[in-house]
Amino acid sequence: MSKEIVTRRVTTRDIRLKKAGEPVVALTAYTAPMARLLDRHVDLLLVGDSLGMVVYGMDTTIGVTLDMMICHAQAVMRGSEHACVIVDMPFGSYQESPAQAFRNAARIMAETGAAGVKLEGGVEMAETIEFLVTRGIPVFGHVGLKPQAVHAIGGFRAQGRGEAEIRQIRTDAKAVSDAGAFAVVLEGTVEPVARAVTAEIPIPTIGIGASPACDGQILVTEDILGLFGTFTPKFVKRYAELAPAVDGAVEQYAAEVRSRVFPGPEHCFAATKISSEH
Ligand code: KIV
Repeated sequence: MSKEIVTRRVTTRDIRLKKAGEPVVALTAYTAPMARLLDRHVDLLLVGDSLGMVVYGMDTTIGVTLDMMICHAQAVMRGSEHACVIVDMPFGSYQESPAQAFRNAARIMAETGAAGVKLEGGVEMAETIEFLVTRGIPVFGHVGLKPQAVHAIGGFRAQGRGEAEIRQIRTDAKAVSDAGAFAVVLEGTVEPVARAVTAEIPIPTIGIGASPACDGQILVTEDILGLFGTFTPKFVKRYAELAPAVDGAVEQYAAEVRSRVFPGPEHCFAATKISSEH
């Protein structure tokens, strides 16, 4: 009798239990076809609000809405069956109060079926994180460089270079952990600080531009595939160069349409006999 292999999604508890074990592998996903390609390789798929920049061509993530996040999260859930799917709460959907955060996080959970939400912030968001977690919503924290605060911090720049910043990141990470988050993204943070934070808190730190000292890594998928922009941030490694491949394929398609090489006979439906009355 063949043994049935039961597959189940990775849970936020599974991620939490990976602290100091095998590194957590995470990537962003915004669409069903990309989620389908990534699903079997990763532990966690993040429907990041970076989709505002990567998919919609915005300059920052500030203009991303809750409805946009929900549509993309539904697509990622349809395209995946293994990874733990977490959805970013966009700017303005959670900062006002714990009650506002709960209302919007509950919408994300109910309308997408995702395993939890991510929100940016440290000490100032601890009360909100605890409010969500104690009401059944798993929270992925995000400290260090917080892209939704780009205007307040004066641009995208690495964090943790001065005493005040170091203290802030360590305090923020501890507050997020104490509040009950199952893991925390540590973004754009210099290695000694990432190492100290990772040693200090009992939940996994998932780094992006935060060194190998973290308990796991996350990157924007389009960045590692060479599909987004000509500028590659220092912390990104490009594992493929797909943009030139897309360019070449589309160039050939355009030439073949213009020269009537495409469609060929093999791309046409067989005709049924047309009677002379038609
Ligand atoms: O929005 C996003 O994609 C993110 C990750 C890159 C951490 O927050």
